[in-house]
Amino acid sequence: MPSELQEKVETLKGRYPDNIAIQCFDSVYFNTLSDDHKRRLQKCLNSGVENPDSEMGCYACQPSDFDDFKPFFSKVLARHHKVSENARHVNNWDLGSLEGLPADGKLDIAKLGLPPLSMRVRVGRNLREFALPGSMTQNDRIRLENRMMAVFDKLIAMPEFGGAYYSLTPGNPAFIDDNKYNELVDAHIMFKRMDTDRYLTAAGIAADWPFGRGCYVSEDREFIIWVGEEDHLRIMCMKRGTVLNEVFDRLKSALDLVESIEGMEFAYSDDYGVVTSCPTNLGTGMRASLHIALPNLTADGTDAKAKAIAKPLGLSVRGIGGEHTPIGVDGTLDISPSARFCITEAEILAALYKGIVLLKDAEQQIET
Ligand code: ARG
Repeated sequence: MPSELQEKVETLKGRYPDNIAIQCFDSVYFNTLSDDHKRRLQKCLNSGVENPDSEMGCYACQPSDFDDFKPFFSKVLARHHKVSENARHVNNWDLGSLEGLPADGKLDIAKLGLPPLSMRVRVGRNLREFALPGSMTQNDRIRLENRMMAVFDKLIAMPEFGGAYYSLTPGNPAFIDDNKYNELVDAHIMFKRMDTDRYLTAAGIAADWPFGRGCYVSEDREFIIWVGEEDHLRIMCMKRGTVLNEVFDRLKSALDLVESIEGMEFAYSDDYGVVTSCPTNLGTGMRASLHIALPNLTADGTDAKAKAIAKPLGLSVRGIGGEHTPIGVDGTLDISPSARFCITEAEILAALYKGIVLLKDAEQQIET
């Protein structure tokens, strides 16, 4: 007998051609699964079924989901990342292995005539030992936060990463009130409430808010770790400057350090690299971005023109307030390479540098 999920997905298939999870769901494959695996795969698809306007339409809920449900996820990944169904991911942070970059390896946008800009590199990471956020219990979320607090104690003692942890968990020694929370959100340090995001809510990722949620911030406010957002950890470095390597290298050393601490085993897949909740982030989990004012390309008050030019360059454009936010009043946009999977970390950074060169040219051409 077909399950409730199968019936729902089959009725949505014709009406939502852009929902990747719904389009990749195969009843024949689903029927080969054990009851337990059926329940697990069903959970992954819940967000996309409840929100049929989703573009991706699924989230992994266990670190092994991408491997355990490979016949489904390989199709999803192929479709979103435009790779083959047997694609394998390789991680590599070494910029020296790339061609076409400045000889000294320094990706300095000042050499392109640009002023200091806000640069940011983030990665998603999950701990192998815990369910992914979509399947965590409230107790799991608190245990994970406590595990991280032991790591933060180590970071606090180090001059290069020292800072403070802020928790939203009632009863946590680092608990902060709403005022402090809002202040950190306004300063772009802490993440926004997740329970207003209908995709994350349907996925179970926003559940138990605000338990197990918090952020670590370095003294200089340029190194941040989010705890309990879409991935267990979002680790990022940001800075206003011109040398992209500065944020990239600092992030890499922070990651190596965190990963060397006992109990910090990150989740990896043999074929797919870094495991993240959302298949859009799989592989590197990395997003490298710059905030750049493009007044000519945004003269009509929208980002339509910038998007049209950026897309063939492999760049995504969004507002500076995060995903689904409008452009800044002065035409400031957040630009980042779209690829995360089957591309190396080094290639992502290089793509940002090369993309900025081309966007800047497009902006100047309008001027002349
Ligand atoms: N689940 C949403 C969708 O399928 C968002 C996916 C990408 N965004 C993200 N934050 N993972 O359209």
